[in-house]
This record gives sequence, C-alpha cells and structure tokens, in this order.
Amino acid sequence: MKDSYKRLLEDIEKMDGNTDEILLGICELLKGSVAHYDWVGFYMLKNGKLNLGPYSGAPTEHNQIAIGQGVCGQAIERESTMIVADVRSEDNYLACSLDVRSEIVVPIFKDSEIIGEIDIDSHRLDAFDQYDKEFLEAVCEHVAGSL
Ligand code: SME
Repeated sequence: MKDSYKRLLEDIEKMDGNTDEILLGICELLKGSVAHYDWVGFYMLKNGKLNLGPYSGAPTEHNQIAIGQGVCGQAIERESTMIVADVRSEDNYLACSLDVRSEIVVPIFKDSEIIGEIDIDSHRLDAFDQYDKEFLEAVCEHVAGSL
C-alpha cells in the first residue's frame, strides 16, 4: 500500500466514538487529505435499499438508492468494487454534482454479507487506480470490524 494511504489507515484505526462519529471522521479525514477525493460518503443497506449515511462534501439528493441503480447500486449487485473512469460514459449513473468526472464505490462486507459501501467522487477524470481500491477496501474491512 502507498505510504500516504498506510498513514491514513493508521489514523482511521485510532478513531473512536460511536459508529456515526467514526464514519463521519473517516469521510472528513479522507476528503481533507486526498486531493482527488471531492465527495466521500457512506451508504448503508437497510431493507434492501442503500441509505445515505455520514458524508463530507456537497449535499446530494440521493438519500436512498435501489440495488442495481447508479454506480452505488451496481456495486452491491456485483458484490465488488466499481471504478468508473468517466461518469459521462456510464449510462447507469446518478449525478450528484455536475463537477464529478470519476467515481469509486467499495462494498463493506461483514461476515460475507454486504452491509453498505463507501462512495467517493472526484472532479478529476480517471482519478482512481488500484492503490485507491486497495486502500479503500482496507478501510471498509476496518469499518466492518468496528461495527
Ligand atoms: N453517483 C452515485 C450516486 C451517489 S452520489 O454520487 C453522492 C451513483 O451513480 O450511484
């Protein structure tokens, strides 16, 4: 893992508080520390829908997302991380802001079941790579372990 991401993961592992405080702390730390992370938020699965949880960035109208809908819903259906290099060429996409160019969505697995996901938008085209994937999957693993 990249050193800068390793350090952020260590900071995340030291966070304490209730679940929402920890999730919000992660959003704020990531948005504030990684230049290409412009919106960072959690969606949690409840009754078969994704519900917006803590986030940092511009307000979104997508408070609830169905499985299969948008990049967020597709990552749940596929049960794997999704990276969209250019959201303008993705048909099944829910626009949060017109400035967004690329997106990564990483599912959170607890006891082999998906319980939610982390969603990150970037204003940069093709902003996310395998380092982001590896880092954010480790963040999600930590989140699952602390819930
Ligand atoms: N772009 C996401 C919707 C969530 S907003 O970006 C916060 C999607 O296509 O599912």
